[in-house]
Amino acid sequence: MLDELGGVTDEPGRLTRTFLSPAMERANQLVGGWMREAGLTVREDETGNLIGRLNSAVPGAKTLLLGSHLDTVRNAGRFDGALGVVLPIVALAELKQRGVTLPYHVEVLAFSEEEAVRFTGAYIGSKAYTGRLRAADLKLRDARNHTLREVIEAHAGRPYVPPKAAHRPGDVLGYLEVHIEQGPVLEAKKLAVGVVSAIASQTRGRLTFRGKAGHAGTTPMDLRRDALAGAAEFILYAEAFAGARPPLVATVGTIQVPAGAANVIPGEVRLSLDVRHPSDAACAAALADLVRQAERTARRRQLTCEWQPTMQHAATPCSPELTKQLARSVRAVQGRGLSLVSGAGHDAVVMAALTPVAMLFVRCRDGLSHHPAEYAAPKDLAVALKVTVDFLQRLAAES
Ligand code: GLV
Ligand code: MN
Ligand code: MN
Repeated sequence: MLDELGGVTDEPGRLTRTFLSPAMERANQLVGGWMREAGLTVREDETGNLIGRLNSAVPGAKTLLLGSHLDTVRNAGRFDGALGVVLPIVALAELKQRGVTLPYHVEVLAFSEEEAVRFTGAYIGSKAYTGRLRAADLKLRDARNHTLREVIEAHAGRPYVPPKAAHRPGDVLGYLEVHIEQGPVLEAKKLAVGVVSAIASQTRGRLTFRGKAGHAGTTPMDLRRDALAGAAEFILYAEAFAGARPPLVATVGTIQVPAGAANVIPGEVRLSLDVRHPSDAACAAALADLVRQAERTARRRQLTCEWQPTMQHAATPCSPELTKQLARSVRAVQGRGLSLVSGAGHDAVVMAALTPVAMLFVRCRDGLSHHPAEYAAPKDLAVALKVTVDFLQRLAAES
């Protein structure tokens, strides 16, 4: 299933699926078919979230949510996001085959956007599902200068009014997200799976350096105000700054020279900055230092520098109760448990505003993710599947 889904792409020869793209529609059709085969009823909301629901016959039952995202980074692997959608479907199909019925409703959520590739703000899918999509989000623009609102309205074919949350908190049991670890800890500890205790604090934004464009052949070096040279100095500073302060991480992942040409001194440069730390205070302090340094670099080079935050989330603790239940299933299946902090962001961050969340991490080869060679072994996926089935059944026994 993951291989098949990994072939559904917007770019020939490599896996890229972005918010409300043609490949996302095809992915929803494919996954929607698997949901139906597992006995779920399927709907899609206006923001392209795919929602598969299995109703329990028990009156007044609450709903357990399981899921992750179907969008990807550019040139992605097959597992990031997709695993957390496919695995619960297989778990429910397995229970159906065993003739097990659950005393609670289940929804499998395939969120339409988590990676912030098309728009610089992440979590559009889970924000829409939890009623947290704000006016500021709808004003974000993609590379073609379309606002998020315009893109949603073109897809839905009608004016978009951001919905209320899909559920009242009291109607939900919790949210479980299964995800590849995207790091090397499980591999080092020789474990197939582990539970997540918390998700690190994260800030993303855009830095714009402005200088003066000019002729590359006629302007002497000492009379230039080169925005790209200033940005380059800042990028190396950010690398050294975070490198000296583990577990802080800082990444400049994109850089654009909008009017760039080989024979023009760069007049304007935009770069993305992503800063993460398990502690909110340390993350905020590091970001403030980095922005101050960008401003200092700009001043010294007679440039200007503007910081525009696009995304921020505080460190998100997983629910101790739900995680304890998940950890019991991990011990039952794997013998040994392990708890780790996630440096990556996940839909669970947004879902935590609605309901208790728990996350199961699955070992991935070389800790590699956001890369086409991303890989999790079938035997590890089997462990994750057994843990999920065990978790669903323990929850059934207790509710
Ligand atoms: C999501 O993949 C992230 O960047 O943490
Ligand atoms: Mn990702
Ligand atoms: Mn992910």
